[in-house]
Amino acid sequence: MSDRVPERASAEGPIVLTPPAPGEVAAPTLGIATTLPLRREGREKLTGEALYTDDIVFPGAWYGATIRSTEARAKLLGLEQDPDFDWSRVVVMTAADIPGDNVISVIVDDWPALAEDEIQHVSQAVALLAAPDKETLREARKRIRLRTEPLPPVLDPEDSEHQFAAYEITKGDPEAAFAEAMIVVQGEYRVGHQEQLYIENQAMIAEPREDGGITIVGSMQCPYYVHSALKQALDLSDEQAVITQAETGGGFGGKEDYPSAVAVHAALLAQRVGKPVRMIYDRHEDIAATTKRHPAIVRYRSGVSAAGKLIAQDIEVIMDGGAFCTLSPVVLSRGVLHAGGPYECDNVHIKGRSMATNTPPNGAFRGFGAPQVGFAHETQLARIADALEISPAELRARWIYREGGTTPSGQVLRESVAAEEVLREATEAADYAGVLELSRQTRPVRWGQAAEAGAGFNSTRVRSASGIGIAMGWHGAGFTGSGEQRMGSTAGVELGADGVIRLLIANTEIGQGTNTVMPMIVAEVLGVEPSEVQLAPVDTSIVPNSGPTVASRTVMVVGGMVSKAAARLRQLVEERSGGDFADVYQADAAANGATRIDQDFESEVEVDFDDETYTGDAYPAFGWACAVAKVDVDLDTGEVRVRSVVSADDVGRVIHPLLAEGQVEGGTLQSVGYGTIEEMKVQDGRYLNDRLATYIIPTSLDAPDITAILVEAPFSGSPHGAKGVGELPMNVAAPAIVDAIHDAVGVWVTELPATPERVLAALEERP
Ligand code: MOS
Repeated sequence: MSDRVPERASAEGPIVLTPPAPGEVAAPTLGIATTLPLRREGREKLTGEALYTDDIVFPGAWYGATIRSTEARAKLLGLEQDPDFDWSRVVVMTAADIPGDNVISVIVDDWPALAEDEIQHVSQAVALLAAPDKETLREARKRIRLRTEPLPPVLDPEDSEHQFAAYEITKGDPEAAFAEAMIVVQGEYRVGHQEQLYIENQAMIAEPREDGGITIVGSMQCPYYVHSALKQALDLSDEQAVITQAETGGGFGGKEDYPSAVAVHAALLAQRVGKPVRMIYDRHEDIAATTKRHPAIVRYRSGVSAAGKLIAQDIEVIMDGGAFCTLSPVVLSRGVLHAGGPYECDNVHIKGRSMATNTPPNGAFRGFGAPQVGFAHETQLARIADALEISPAELRARWIYREGGTTPSGQVLRESVAAEEVLREATEAADYAGVLELSRQTRPVRWGQAAEAGAGFNSTRVRSASGIGIAMGWHGAGFTGSGEQRMGSTAGVELGADGVIRLLIANTEIGQGTNTVMPMIVAEVLGVEPSEVQLAPVDTSIVPNSGPTVASRTVMVVGGMVSKAAARLRQLVEERSGGDFADVYQADAAANGATRIDQDFESEVEVDFDDETYTGDAYPAFGWACAVAKVDVDLDTGEVRVRSVVSADDVGRVIHPLLAEGQVEGGTLQSVGYGTIEEMKVQDGRYLNDRLATYIIPTSLDAPDITAILVEAPFSGSPHGAKGVGELPMNVAAPAIVDAIHDAVGVWVTELPATPERVLAALEERP
């Protein structure tokens, strides 16, 4: 990548993207564009001109803060305000001051905007505070105390009696198959919280409107989610709630659910103060209070026949939802639907539940349930390969899905199945077979040395051991089951009276490239250059609800809608103005005024899913991935250094090679962090390392050498063949690392992340 870092040609001049080396894929794969477009908002981001929420000035704005609980569970008796403080200078609000429902609307209405009678988790919002300046706000904050009476918290999901969701999938007859199995491998796998750690913290500014409503400017993935939440909590009409997205510094799912809470809080204060209110989290508050990836326990049993076939899988998935439901049912749903892994098996039983605990609510994070089960199915598979004394790549080559395969929910994989291809691409690029062969020859020596781990600095053994590992994954593109049909989104393409082509979508640029890729898709259909297509501002009073920017759906689903809308616009303009759209559209606009085409979602392929029985087509299509990781394990400290990761990812069709590659690199690095160092320590329901100084993620110096290989198995259900790229790579690097640790030192780490402590513990426990 380094030879392609954009550089400024001169202080005022254009930002030039150095051409890629010969042989690299960098030309646009869509036909019309003559050059690969630069990231639309890239220049502003690089020069610092981009305005993130906290950069935006609202004259006279007040500052908002959230008073939070410090207990995991307690009866809330009241607020104590220091009588020596002049409270007339500030505004304090509690649940009693909420005009609408005291709810942050997500799936079920169990998440209070402000705690009412009972506190359910540490960092729960209990009251709001606003002041005209930061100094007064800080002072007031110190003079307010919660009066509470502690209650016993539930901290273990397996002790919880409150279930947010449960699903069960059965295919064939697993128990009969287990009875015939030659070997049965059992395992229990655990994963902890993971923090999204977007660069920009949560931030919202609320401004009162003349019509009694509120305008929100903020950092978010899903403007219409914020719109619904605001309407419900403040009792506003559709028009009174206006949500606009500011430049957003990353989301990764963390700005899918939680921004609704920040916006509701800011809006409540703004309505009361009668002035704009800024609610900008600092990093400590952001980590302490906002949603994380769900911790999970996955219990796995696999049966293999004498002929070496995977004949039975029995899987239990338990997710820790935290105190409120947020998106837990859909995260769990994706988890159970992916739990079998990308492997054909005739007899499968999967059951999963998501349980409430008195910890901050867990929510959306890139991968959305799949990375949790991915670690389990891949480590399970690696252990089976070990038991069978067969190469893990070879075992996968035998078991992976091919076209015509049937998933546990009974979905027949009719097309776009590239498991075999990603496996081949990744193993070839990493020279997997060759490296593994050599590694196996030196295993006895290395594993013997590793067994002495902790022997101290005076021992004569080597200090580190290297290993190679592999993992595969799949990721359903778009919403699960009938989600897309139920939601019914709409996207628009407009030819303005000013002759400008505009895209009307509520999908957000969060760093992934939406603003660059969507105009490319439309330009291709209209036969114009991408630079001729503008994006309307992401503002709910301007753009229709094209659905949330989640679930790797934007390019496939919203791209499909805008592409159809553009085709209709092109036909209409060409019919009435007689000529090629590119030649006539400006004259057409001058003669006919504005033309806007709205396109509702229509499925291109038959997606038949039964939400009751959990059978049928769980996703329109799956993306397929394979990662090969090379690691060094420090035998004194147990530290794992990931040297390289090759990730081959089938995304259907690549629209913008550089941005797609960036998604694979970013997802891989986030998975490296998930696999090795990103550990959220929780004690009595409180995050202990809720600061950037203590919650460690990989920096550029920790980043392995990442090779992204983009594989294209086009999907007929999307006009341009694309599936999704955002989440897929997140599922594979972490389990590949765990397999590489095993190759290096001969032990299985069954809990992520594979911290030095866990690696040393595994070495010490070795029989
Ligand atoms: Mo998401 S994790 O933004 O579907």
